Amino acid sequence: MSEAAQAFIPAAAPVHKRRLSRLEIALAARRNVLELIPAISYRQPIVTGEVLRRWHMLADPAGYKRVMLDNLANYPKSEIMRRMLRPAIGESLFNADGPEWKWQRQAVAPVFTHRNVVALAPAMSATAARAVQRLSSGGRTELVAEMLTATFDVICDVALSGREHFDANAFSHAITRYFQTAGRTSLLDFLGVPEWFPRPGELIAGAAVRTMHGMVAQAIDARRAQTASPADDLLDHMLAAQDPETGRRMSPEDLIYNMQFFIVAGHETTALAISWALYLLANSPEHQDRARAEARAQLNGKVAQAGDLDAMPFINQVLEEAMRLYPPVGLLARHVVARDELCGRTINPNDILFLPIWALHRHELLWEHPEMFDPGRFAPGTVRDRYQYLPFGAGPRVCVGANFAMMQAGIILATLIQNFRFRPAQPQPKPVMTMTVRPDPGIFLMVERPD
Ligand code: HEM
Repeated sequence: MSEAAQAFIPAAAPVHKRRLSRLEIALAARRNVLELIPAISYRQPIVTGEVLRRWHMLADPAGYKRVMLDNLANYPKSEIMRRMLRPAIGESLFNADGPEWKWQRQAVAPVFTHRNVVALAPAMSATAARAVQRLSSGGRTELVAEMLTATFDVICDVALSGREHFDANAFSHAITRYFQTAGRTSLLDFLGVPEWFPRPGELIAGAAVRTMHGMVAQAIDARRAQTASPADDLLDHMLAAQDPETGRRMSPEDLIYNMQFFIVAGHETTALAISWALYLLANSPEHQDRARAEARAQLNGKVAQAGDLDAMPFINQVLEEAMRLYPPVGLLARHVVARDELCGRTINPNDILFLPIWALHRHELLWEHPEMFDPGRFAPGTVRDRYQYLPFGAGPRVCVGANFAMMQAGIILATLIQNFRFRPAQPQPKPVMTMTVRPDPGIFLMVERPD
């Protein structure tokens, strides 16, 4: 790594070295979930504690393999997490378990085959071109809002073949309100914080969900009323989906919940990955120059297309490294069904198992200088444990949209870096997780035309 790259230490979350009191935990959980990860989780494979219920934080590749693959049935999604998400996404794909999950996964999987994702790439390129236009005025710019606009366009295209029924601003404000309120409230439940502890977020979260569901329902009604041939988008696949065993089809409610999840998950996480990548490049001029040179050589002034991505491996490395340092989904939680052993520790039924992807990606035993930005870690041919790097999870419940996200992020990042030079601006971002790892107060950068 060069000296210039070494001088920059990417923003990290505060790490508490001592054990926090219950009140401190409750307050930290509201502020930033990442603060709950104890310092030793970055050095040890598993950490166990008790706040009313026994909990574990796992940061070990072999342990993740057992939880996400080998003994998956023993670790369903945590009931508290599911309860928190239920008002927004019901028993849809992300939240369901067992046969409920399986048939929904089968129903949406065809939309995300490589062939179909490549077919969606022109929408991604068009969005990248619009982002270039918007950023052309230059100057100090907040990038997360820009990237959310870009990725929202794409998900509306893939999910609903357009966005006529969406007030993008209203929808995106509702998402932010929901994340900030429901996420915080539920963590208090996780930690066994008593009912009387104020949870002011619940009402706001309810209103946000109603706003979002209203828009999704309108879009679905409009599609049902259409007589023209199907658009072959996500909504069409779901309208046609049928459980091969029971013959069941998605109810209007199932449809709303699933579409709601796809629209939120499909754009928020990807926008964050691109924004964090731009922040890292802005602070590492040498890596930024290399990424720009690669993009220019391949694109020659055009907007990136799906077919360009393989020829730009460094852009991909930057994205992978950005998601190592800032995994958009920084922490997951699982319920324990039966007694098991992880990293030599006995795990009892009803314990809570936290999967802090954030700590796994910054673990001292797994990564050299884990706090540093070094895209070289992901150079082609580099070997690492499959379960050491999990921005999209793994096993049967791996993110169904991973290819889609990487293609979209690659097209947008390559196009932007070809067209602009980014420099850091104030204020500097702090990573804060409520449901996703967002930069607070945003990613502010100076946007300039390169030489
Ligand atoms: C950078 C972007 C993204 C990241 C980091 C991400 C991350 C994740 C992770 C970690 C999981 C596993 C959760 C668990 O095991 O509990 C997941 C699941 C899921 N993701 Fe993504 N995701 C991204 C983009 C997308 C996109 C673009 C879509 C769809 C358009 C999507 C749809 C889903 C769905 C439906 C699941 C549930 C799969 C199942 O349970 O079978 N995600 N995602």
